[in-house]
Amino acid sequence: MKTSTPKTRVALVTGGAQGIGQGIARRLLADGMIVVIADCDAGASNEFLQEMGRDARLLSIPTDVTREAEIRRLVRAVARRCRRLDALVNNVGIGINKPVEKLTLAEWNQVLATNLTSLFLTVKYAAPLLRQAHGRIVNIASTRALQSEQNTEAYAASKGGVVALTHALAVSLGPEIRVNGICPGWIEVGDWQKASRRHQPQHRAIDCLQHPAGRVGTPQDIAALTAFLLSDEAGFITGHCLPVDGGMTIKMIYEE
Ligand SMILES: NC(=O)c1ccc[n+]([C@@H]2O[C@H](COP(=O)([O-])OP(=O)(O)OC[C@H]3O[C@@H](n4cnc5c(N)ncnc54)[C@H](O)[C@@H]3O)[C@@H](O)[C@H]2O)c1
Repeated sequence: MKTSTPKTRVALVTGGAQGIGQGIARRLLADGMIVVIADCDAGASNEFLQEMGRDARLLSIPTDVTREAEIRRLVRAVARRCRRLDALVNNVGIGINKPVEKLTLAEWNQVLATNLTSLFLTVKYAAPLLRQAHGRIVNIASTRALQSEQNTEAYAASKGGVVALTHALAVSLGPEIRVNGICPGWIEVGDWQKASRRHQPQHRAIDCLQHPAGRVGTPQDIAALTAFLLSDEAGFITGHCLPVDGGMTIKMIYEE
């Protein structure tokens, strides 16, 4: 008997158990999608599944995105369990902040593998499924692709790479697949962690004042643009990375 492809759209969110990724997963679930989270923290993933009342549309496939074999297995599992893939959200990211003379090659490679090479691998293996569904990709970069604090070389380089990879992929995979990115600014994720790491964020007045929008960002701010970029309404947007930073990066600051 021939099985028909289910119509409910399917999204894959890397690093979807906590932080911005969890915010995106919640939003896409609320929009009616089936959401697969691929996070290396199985405990955090299980907590999230439990908090969502074991919603049948939220699936967890524990994955370390720095391992090619695990990404291949992840995409095979999505194909087998969901039979389609409409949206890939490459959200995983880590930072190691150290003076450049103290940063080891292993640490540099770890940041690049997690933040940049993993995107190449997820797209490499998921592209056939995405093409079938005329799918969309959203890559989570950072405003640190555009400006820096001290001692953030590996992170800045990885995020600059994400911005470049986004336009390269958009050209190579279009018109079937649209590829965009988001450059989040300061997004508070302290209250979006697993219970053992969760804390109530406190921001100083100056933290809010440095943003023309008057506040620090939330995962929902990033999730809202992700949902839009994944929608048909964004059909003429591809290859771009859009800042979501409350205006922080356009404000000049002169130190007193
Ligand atoms: N929070 C911010 O202010 C901010 C600003 C700009 C960009 N970003 C970017 O947004 C993304 C999400 O950041 P966040 O602040 O929500 O982080 P977070 O640490 O709160 O969450 C990241 C999630 O990724 C998972 N993860 C880490 N390494 C992994 C791996 N190798 N394989 C699979 N899963 C892995 C973690 O377990 C965690 O659940 C990152 O790409 C980050 O660089 C965040």
